[in-house]
Amino acid sequence: QTRVLTGITTTGTPHLGNYVGAIRPAIEASRRNDVDAFFFMADYHALIKSGDAARIERSRLEIAASWLAAGLDPARVTFYRQSDIPEIPELTWFLTCIAAKGMLNRAHAYKAAVDRNTEAGEDADAGITAGLYMYPVLMAADILAFDAHKVPVGRDQIQHIEMARDLAQRFNHIHGREFFVLPEALIEEQVATLPGLDGRKMSKSYDNTIPLFAGGSKQLREAIMRIVTDSRLPGEPKDPDSCALFTIFRAFASELETAAFRQALLDGMGWGDAKQALYERIESDVAPMREHYEALMADPAGIELILQQGALKARAVATPKIAALRDALGLRSAA
Ligand code: TYM
Repeated sequence: QTRVLTGITTTGTPHLGNYVGAIRPAIEASRRNDVDAFFFMADYHALIKSGDAARIERSRLEIAASWLAAGLDPARVTFYRQSDIPEIPELTWFLTCIAAKGMLNRAHAYKAAVDRNTEAGEDADAGITAGLYMYPVLMAADILAFDAHKVPVGRDQIQHIEMARDLAQRFNHIHGREFFVLPEALIEEQVATLPGLDGRKMSKSYDNTIPLFAGGSKQLREAIMRIVTDSRLPGEPKDPDSCALFTIFRAFASELETAAFRQALLDGMGWGDAKQALYERIESDVAPMREHYEALMADPAGIELILQQGALKARAVATPKIAALRDALGLRSAA
């Protein structure tokens, strides 16, 4: 059996990038009989980015409802909240003690923050928390606590998975035993980075996202109409390979539909019509799930119950794992 694991940070409303980069491939994988799936709400990670409790709570509900509406079956999948698993912060500490500081210095998010400070003429580490610095170690603990083989993610997470692999290897080497499975990223090349409204990566931090369910079909359509295009008029040929609109279409369409859309753009389809076609393509996938999403959002207690049952299943794996590590580290002998 292959163990597949992935998480989403509870800081915002799930968007199309989360769906095609993580949720959709993860759920597809979870339906295979040879896969044992672990999907979770990364709320410890959310604390690094936000101190707004109401926002974290709201986001957790939206993300959980999105997973379930998109077809996650809690009877098949271990579906839980990161902060219900105390073994994760414990393993984070074990890994912290072997993590090379130089490796963490190279993490993209930390480096970007340092670069911004340096450009602004400030102290390199101004305003940067140890939480941001330690982000990759916490994420490694998420993955290694469950011995995940494959981690479905978008391209922006590859470096984190490589660091998790590095930490697993280092730990195994130091202790002379295969304590941890070496995880691998599972990336769908077609949609590894879904662009947002402005053509940059779709991301909460760029405020360029298209929500998956929130706001209903009206908001989906409005967002799609705001996708930035060039000023070519109807009748003029468009370049499919340089527009976000085409890339987003491709992430939702079959090869045949994509080829037809490409030809229509080359033949001069107007941007307005192209946006309408994109809206209809996405809506036909999303509409059947949206109704389920709305029912789930109206029942937070039902979601809470599912997450608590998930936590029991997750801890049944993590607790013995951590007990064995404590033993190996000389902290406490496993009973
Ligand atoms: P997060 O919450 O930023 O994003 C969740 C998932 O969505 C993917 N994604 C995208 N994929 C394609 N195109 C995009 N524009 C796009 N935007 C987001 C992300 O790659 C991710 O797969 N650190 C993680 C959460 C996490 C995690 C883990 C993931 C914590 N622990 C352990 C896997 C395993 C994060 O902040 O993702």
